[in-house]
Amino acid sequence: VDKGSYWDNAYIKKGVGGVSWYQDSPDYSLRLIKACRLKSDAALIDVGGGASRLVDHLLAMGFTNLSVLDISSEALSQARSRLEADAERVAWLEADITTFDPPQSYALWHDRAVFHFLTDAEDRRRYLSVVKAALQPEANLIIATFAPDGPDRCSDLPIEKYDAEKMVATLGNGFDLQETLSEQHVRPDGRLQHFNYCRFKRV
Ligand SMILES: C[S@@+](CC[C@H](N)C(=O)[O-])C[C@H]1O[C@@H](n2cnc3c(N)ncnc32)[C@H](O)[C@@H]1O
Repeated sequence: VDKGSYWDNAYIKKGVGGVSWYQDSPDYSLRLIKACRLKSDAALIDVGGGASRLVDHLLAMGFTNLSVLDISSEALSQARSRLEADAERVAWLEADITTFDPPQSYALWHDRAVFHFLTDAEDRRRYLSVVKAALQPEANLIIATFAPDGPDRCSDLPIEKYDAEKMVATLGNGFDLQETLSEQHVRPDGRLQHFNYCRFKRV
């Protein structure tokens, strides 16, 4: 199966709210986004946002230029049906992040549990060149991955784990680390997953 169908199946099999990464309220992401002090018309993108409720919260906070990108059309359609009429206020982009051609530049790029699937150095290089092409000067980059003592796999796929130091080294020049947060994410089945969040400013 291709990558898009793999993820479509994960969303179909587990249903709304059943996927291991599900959060009612993405509190850690929201805390870091608030710290960016963005204007309400700033362009924000949630990369690999899937069916996350982050976009619901950002709409409620008054942001008017919101994009959600995902490789899974099923994930995007779950989010759109949940938002009903509000879905019209969001740009939904079905794309593979490693080959994404951004239609605009962004003041904030948010990625929770997507970059960590890139176990191949070439894919990480492609992702980072997309980030650099897509971000405005002094833009904000928030990346959350499994922490070094987190699980080895996510959604049955191998992942790469990061602490802040390793993320700084992986991103290379051009990003200044502002803040890190540690989350013990509680999965729907009650098990814990340790996430590491990093907030960067583009320099
Ligand atoms: C573990 S889930 C996290 C979803 C969301 N960020 C959250 O925190 O709820 C990973 C998401 O990344 C998407 N994804 C995986 N590989 C991708 C790729 N190469 N390009 C774009 N999206 C991808 C999947 O469809 C899925 O929605």
